[in-house]
Amino acid sequence: MENRQQWGSRYGFILAAVGSAIGLGNIWRFPAVAYENGGGAFFIPYLVALLTAGIPLLILEFTLGHKYRGSAPLSYFRLHKNAEWLGWWQVFVAFVISTYYAVIIAWAIKYSIYSLNLAWGDKPSDFFYGEVLQLSKTPGDIGGIVPGILIALLIVWVVTLLVLYKGVSKGIERFNKIFIPALVIMFLLIVIRAITLDGAAQGLNTFFTPDWSAINNGKVWVAAYGQIFFSLSIAFAIMVTYSSYLPKKSDINNNAFITGFANSGFELLAGIGVFAALGFMAMQQGLPVAEVVKGGIGLAFEVFPAIINEFPGGNAFFGTMFFLTLVFAGMTSLISIVETYVAALQDKFGISRTKAVLMGGGVASVISLLFATKGGLYMLDIVDYFINNFGITLAGLAEVVLIAWFVKQLGGLQNHANAISDLRTGLWWKVCLGVITPILLGYMMFDNIRQNLA
Ligand code: PHE
Repeated sequence: MENRQQWGSRYGFILAAVGSAIGLGNIWRFPAVAYENGGGAFFIPYLVALLTAGIPLLILEFTLGHKYRGSAPLSYFRLHKNAEWLGWWQVFVAFVISTYYAVIIAWAIKYSIYSLNLAWGDKPSDFFYGEVLQLSKTPGDIGGIVPGILIALLIVWVVTLLVLYKGVSKGIERFNKIFIPALVIMFLLIVIRAITLDGAAQGLNTFFTPDWSAINNGKVWVAAYGQIFFSLSIAFAIMVTYSSYLPKKSDINNNAFITGFANSGFELLAGIGVFAALGFMAMQQGLPVAEVVKGGIGLAFEVFPAIINEFPGGNAFFGTMFFLTLVFAGMTSLISIVETYVAALQDKFGISRTKAVLMGGGVASVISLLFATKGGLYMLDIVDYFINNFGITLAGLAEVVLIAWFVKQLGGLQNHANAISDLRTGLWWKVCLGVITPILLGYMMFDNIRQNLA
């Protein structure tokens, strides 16, 4: 693979990695997870998770990709001839995520247009489930594709596949160079506006007030590690793939720290913005903030339209901007997810990028139609649950255990990264990956299984 494509600049690579990390998870997952797991006190387990698992794993994945210069299956194969399956498992998880992630972005596109005239009216929840999703009454009833979603979904896939077809530096890098700065600026504007709203202070108080008992709660720690994994796009084959396009001389360790902190910084910003806005809405409705908190799809498509309805001036503007930030954050992540299987197909079958984009993207976009049906949301919830609770933990656990204990390559990989980085990692890095992370992930697996049996 000597003529492998390369990033045009270090800045380009970092933006692409940050673009993958910053996604829907930062905007709608983090605020609710933090709030439910101790508020201000959550930051302790969260920071510990970032420093003991998030950044060490990012370094590991950057090193794997850089050293073995392949998509995830090829890189794992080059690490050890019996390890290719792990790459495919991670690619498979990424593939599944891409099929529903695309549909959520399509909803966000629709909502950036609905915002122009507040088309959701004064009952945003009814509008979302009734008109937008036309959700069937019984979960098993798929009921055909929802009219009106196809164009938005088509836009999502066409843009994603075009960017990937253009290649690493001319496609992925260029896209991120435009949309990540745009995303950050727009999001900052929204957050600044949000914290100047009436009631914002109560919202922020609710968010930050620490519940110190959370520190002693195993669940809170599991939530912190889970959030870090999802948010940093770790164990999805993504970071291995992206770093396989790094030039020979790259400060891997530093890049990982920058990516990790940039992602968490954005996440914190999102928490502040979301809770300021929730505080505002709670005040308008005369409710305690705790009663209006929601995460996930409900936050984006039920609560935010309600907040936008009440916005004092410029609601169409702020509404459209909010949903566009979801679209941008989502697209830069989706591109990274789809690239994992485009690269894997290329490496495995020796086909051109164009063919791999058409094959991988073609299959994924057709499957994504399942989630665009009237029963789509039910399926999305189930698939998302299994991916988050088993797909990721299993992939992450297998990754660290395999590398640390079976092929025993932590030291070799560390030497590889340290030789080209200004910032060097020491013993702590091996302890984190060889001991702390496996124990935590093992505990998470066990906890998930226990909960599912209960
Ligand atoms: N990390 C991104 C997020 O927080 C996107 C992502 C999610 C990427 C899941 C891969 C898998 O939303």
